Amino acid sequence: MSYQLPKGTFDIYPAAKNPWQNMDGWSHLEHTIRACSQRYGYSEIRTPVFERTEVFTRSVGESSDIVSKEMYTFKDKGDRSMTLRPEGTAPVIRSYVENNMQHAPFQKLFYIGPYFRYDRPQAGRFRQFHQLGVEFFGQNGAEADFEVITYALSLYTELGLKNLTLELNSIGTKEDRDRYEQALKEYLLPNKDQLSEDSQRRLDENPLRILDSKVAADRELVKDAPSIFEFLSKDSKAHFERLCELLQAHELTFTINPKIVRGLDYYQHTVFEISSSVLGAQNVIGGGGRYDGFVKQFGGPDIPGVGFATGLERILVTMDGQGVAIPSPKGPVVYIIPIGTAAECMTPELLYKLRRAHIGCDMHYGSKKLAKALQQAETIGAQFALVLGEEELSSRHVKLKNVRTREEHNVSLDSLVETLSEMRT
Ligand code: HAM
Repeated sequence: MSYQLPKGTFDIYPAAKNPWQNMDGWSHLEHTIRACSQRYGYSEIRTPVFERTEVFTRSVGESSDIVSKEMYTFKDKGDRSMTLRPEGTAPVIRSYVENNMQHAPFQKLFYIGPYFRYDRPQAGRFRQFHQLGVEFFGQNGAEADFEVITYALSLYTELGLKNLTLELNSIGTKEDRDRYEQALKEYLLPNKDQLSEDSQRRLDENPLRILDSKVAADRELVKDAPSIFEFLSKDSKAHFERLCELLQAHELTFTINPKIVRGLDYYQHTVFEISSSVLGAQNVIGGGGRYDGFVKQFGGPDIPGVGFATGLERILVTMDGQGVAIPSPKGPVVYIIPIGTAAECMTPELLYKLRRAHIGCDMHYGSKKLAKALQQAETIGAQFALVLGEEELSSRHVKLKNVRTREEHNVSLDSLVETLSEMRT
């Protein structure tokens, strides 16, 4: 009997060819994310991979694709409905309220982990995928939106990504949207039968989502639809203008796209998406926006928030497509090549001693050919190779060979720990 991965999932392992499966890429990405988060003052949060289903149904929106079509929902043994998290904002807010984090004047959190959406798998779209998300609570000014956007852009730049497109929109407050949705409905209703089936349904449930439909007929119909900007209140307009001003002042290029509405119901005011042309149909690498009122919906005080999330697989695919090199992981300080039975018996003891002294090391197994063993030391990125044969054991002196420069050093076996501690880079 053979076993196979569930559709839409993948393994991540050393030396994998696909960029989204290669562990070196993941390690580099996660390391860079942690460094960037620290610079921007974000602390890490981890929430469970499953939550009570209502955490998502009540917040992300019953009519959204994520809730209505894509959730992995199951009954646990206590007959409670649980859902594998399809996104990170709702669980973070649940935790923020449950753990009373709202008492701090502001709170900046980031998270990395697996998320689950049951959708048709295709390039850049998986059923288990990974996100980095950041959430900034407690500040309602456009400066916080600006900070979240600059976090995203800085991270992408630091990772070596180029030619990304930032698109912005404002979907105003609930009142602004109610007025706009009415106008949009009135505009689309005469041509309802020309809309796709999904959009016809959305016309009643969530007309805004018709704006970002991918179906050509829908796109044609909404081309000249009224713009949300005509319906924004004075305050909503001022918030958006301030954000645009900040981006312009810092020479960050963006496009205003009134068709961006995002697929989750919790947004207010700013929404944005960042795309990469390398990605093909699933070209959005990250997206987010402001969600004032969301914390209150979870039973907390009326604290504003803004955040974004980015697909880690999509980052790795873009890096690969743009030829960004992934730094190789650091190899061990020393690679020991035992020759003969006595040396083979003694090497584990030596490794144990070195590792206890915090010196990374490994030993050679397999081919007895010295050239092959030295090649392996190079492949794994060891700094030194140490050949341990009968002669070395009896003289208690060994040669440490610098794998890169080929330089050799005579070293006493008894002072190996001290010598390596000094010589390692
Ligand atoms: P989202 O746009 O649904 O937003 O997802 C964010 C990112 O996750 C997408 O831009 C994409 O890169 C990646 N992604 C989504 N679905 C998949 C999939 N099936 N396969 C691979 N990658 C995928 C959110 O999840 C919001 N919680 C973002 C947010 C945080 N807004 C405010 N704070």
